[in-house]
Amino acid sequence: MIDKLSVEVLDKFDWIKRNLIVWNYRTGRPAKAAYRNETEFLWFYSNPLHEINIDAIRISYDENGKKDKRRNPKGKSCGNVWEFSRIKPNYREATGHPTQKPEKLAERMILASSNIGDLIVIPFAGSGSEIVPCAKLDRYFIAAETNETYVKHIILPRLERERISFTQHDCTEQPYSV
Ligand SMILES: C[S@@+](CC[C@H](N)C(=O)[O-])C[C@H]1O[C@@H](n2cnc3c(N)ncnc32)[C@H](O)[C@@H]1O
Repeated sequence: MIDKLSVEVLDKFDWIKRNLIVWNYRTGRPAKAAYRNETEFLWFYSNPLHEINIDAIRISYDENGKKDKRRNPKGKSCGNVWEFSRIKPNYREATGHPTQKPEKLAERMILASSNIGDLIVIPFAGSGSEIVPCAKLDRYFIAAETNETYVKHIILPRLERERISFTQHDCTEQPYSV
């Protein structure tokens, strides 16, 4: 769907298409008719004046790599292939949500594209993986999730465990949002 989403929806906004980011999680189920899927993709669009906070998301150089004087002492600039493991059931942050993303993935986007005190909109909250780093990084958030079970049994207990305070608006009848 992601290529369709780009061409048929996102390209129609007044935004600039900056990158297709590849999330390389490296593991996936073997298949016979197709190559093993070990990646997911994220479209990064922004408005014309947006600049990413490059220094906030620098990556450490490979310790075994050659010493090179041109290396930036603050770390390597971030490319468009992001290496994070998928959430495994035994991980501390695992919630049981079927498509839960790692907090580190959201953390990178939040650090790169927002500043302390900014407001972040999370339209599909799922298990709350974007909410948690927002709060930890002192950003405000508005999050929505249509599945009441996820809200009651995953997001709210997760925010409580993380001691994140919020105001909850119960949209009567239709979607339930946090
Ligand atoms: C891919 S999951 C998001 C997972 C999230 N990134 C995480 O790591 O926890 C998408 C979520 O969007 C929710 N959803 C689908 N349609 C929605 C809508 N119209 N409004 C709010 N949430 C919706 C689904 O119930 C699902 O939990």
